[in-house]
Amino acid sequence: MTILDGKKISNDIKNEITAEVKKMKERGEKVPHLAAVIVGNDGASLTYVGSKVRSCERVGFESTMVRMSNTTSEVELLDKIEELNENPEIDGFIIQLPLPPQIDTRKVLMAVHPDKDVDGFHPTNFGKMALDMSTFIPATPFGILELLDRYGVETKGKHTVVIGRSHIVGRPMSILMGRKGFPGNSTVTLTHSHTKNITQITSQADIIISALGVPKFLKAEMVKDDAVIIDVGITRVPDETKEKGYYITGDVDFENVSKKASYITPVPGGVGPMTIAMLLKNTLLARERHML
Ligand code: GUN
Repeated sequence: MTILDGKKISNDIKNEITAEVKKMKERGEKVPHLAAVIVGNDGASLTYVGSKVRSCERVGFESTMVRMSNTTSEVELLDKIEELNENPEIDGFIIQLPLPPQIDTRKVLMAVHPDKDVDGFHPTNFGKMALDMSTFIPATPFGILELLDRYGVETKGKHTVVIGRSHIVGRPMSILMGRKGFPGNSTVTLTHSHTKNITQITSQADIIISALGVPKFLKAEMVKDDAVIIDVGITRVPDETKEKGYYITGDVDFENVSKKASYITPVPGGVGPMTIAMLLKNTLLARERHML
């Protein structure tokens, strides 16, 4: 069994990006600048955005965190997006999700200019991805592809089962794994809350990508020997004995499933760090495009 070490690979990628930024500086070019907008005080979202901003510093990017209150109106957020769209200093930006209920997420994501949409959530970019055109690929799916690639995990002709159909992970992942090329060329089954007999499906899978958010959902009985297991779940489970008052767990019963798997991602330290590395990679790409 091999651990797919997202912490190590994300570090390698950050080092590669740091080297690119150094070259940009030596050529006297402006370095990439990422902005992140966060609305409200959700603890997990603040942690993620804080980590994205720190990672920018680590690779030599400029970064801007835009904090807006929980009571921000949709119009105020749309105005802020317009400002970021028009600001030539900003190469790419993200709107951290989830947004408070008074704001229509779809409307907001459609307001981000596709050329600055480093999350790859705009319909133009999502459509391009589905049509094999060059574009920003959403960071978490992009990170999973990169992990499979760097560990040389075969995907061609394999049966990949994706659990969860979110717009951020499950849906794009199901498209990417079936695309022509590597990683890709899989036969894909997309499962979700209405799927019947999920164990019958997962137990036939060569590769399982779980993005459900239910702690320890995937049990050893649901997995065949030598399967490749990608765990995208990051759930905070309340625990008084821990300093923070919670512990982090994934969708996979790691202790038992890892005994059967050929490759498996840990939580934390698997897919999570890869997401940030690929967001940086998309921002570098956005900067390079703006220089054309
Ligand atoms: N919330 C959970 N994951 C993500 C992500 O990848 N990007 C943004 N913007 N929000 C998220």
